[in-house]
Amino acid sequence: MSIRTLDDLLAEGVSGRRVLVRADLNVPLDKQTGAITDDGRIRAVLPTLGALVEAGAKVVVCSHLGRPKGAPDPQFSLGPVAGRLGELLGVPVHFATDTVGDSARSTVAGLADGQVALLENLRFNAGETSKDEAERGAFADQLAAFGDAYVDDAFGAVHRKHASVFDVPARLPHVAGRLVLREVEVLSKLTGEPERPYVVVLGGSKVSDKLAVIEALLPTVDRLLIGGGMCFTFLKAQGLEVGTSLLEKDMVETCRNLLERSGGKIMLPVDVVVADAFAPDAAHDTVRVDGIPSHRLGLDVGPETVAGFSAALSQAKTIFWNGPMGVFEMAAFAAGTRGVAEAITKADAFSVVGGGDSAAAVRALGLDESSFGHISTGGGASLEYLEGKTLPGIAALEN
Ligand code: 3PG
Ligand code: MG
Repeated sequence: MSIRTLDDLLAEGVSGRRVLVRADLNVPLDKQTGAITDDGRIRAVLPTLGALVEAGAKVVVCSHLGRPKGAPDPQFSLGPVAGRLGELLGVPVHFATDTVGDSARSTVAGLADGQVALLENLRFNAGETSKDEAERGAFADQLAAFGDAYVDDAFGAVHRKHASVFDVPARLPHVAGRLVLREVEVLSKLTGEPERPYVVVLGGSKVSDKLAVIEALLPTVDRLLIGGGMCFTFLKAQGLEVGTSLLEKDMVETCRNLLERSGGKIMLPVDVVVADAFAPDAAHDTVRVDGIPSHRLGLDVGPETVAGFSAALSQAKTIFWNGPMGVFEMAAFAAGTRGVAEAITKADAFSVVGGGDSAAAVRALGLDESSFGHISTGGGASLEYLEGKTLPGIAALEN
């Protein structure tokens, strides 16, 4: 595989050239105020953007935010992101109020060397995510017209076969940005020959989202620790009562089968925190997993589970973690995620945190980011990479 890099492009010289950068600026927003609650993904693209600004390129940045349905939707505007990006980059960011329309055209045309534009949300255009090649291609043509070269630095979106990720690089000289390179370099250590024991911690709400990665990882890992909402479907598969906890009924049989085939590698919670309701102030208690009352729901793993998971993690030489252990956004149900995260930082291991939610949890809980080996900006992307899938955005850079 041969991927050209940002350094190759910089070596050619970019002064005065328009460089279209696909970034993943899909940051979490506060539902009430619309404020950016975690700017990690904006910070992650600064090395690439900074280098292009410094080299005198006319930098045109594009991204998606959220999942608008192919038409403008103000709650998903990248406007607030433009402001934050400008602050962090230390240069003003000229915001286009559409993606490929009049505003975008005049904003891009008005850029001087070393200036930066951000286009409005790519997904305000049906062509971005269309399954129809021609519709995607037509949108890609419009985007490609804004650049003389293309840089993909949107690691979080490389698993999407979208116009800005897959079709634009077919139309322009293309390179991988610093973030994409770093992510691939780190994740390839996990798919190569990870130092053992290799322990994976998975959480989050749905088994169905994680099924493919569980299947792919089982033969590779030494231990697979499962917490979060998805653990209840596994507990049910062991014949336990899970009350009103999250349950994917149609996955119970699959989980039973995975447990049978796992050769004892899968570790499940032994205790959980159960509550009367899904609310920050709900009455709650810790119970053993064989004592979950039928009217209560589990919202976190319990302290004995944290101790068991921590013991397994303390042995590890390589760790991958994706998905919170409980509803960490509510203080009463954050201890499991915090405990597991702390055990990861204490282990003498190379650790990778994958996923928007787990990365946000690390920062929201005030943990030291530098005590992890790598915090990936990709959720779905890092999981699909570990599954060994071909990622459209990476494949497009290889051609
Ligand atoms: C993410 O948040 O995982 C990426 O930005 C991709 O977003 P998507 O899942 O909506 O494609
Ligand atoms: Mg996602």
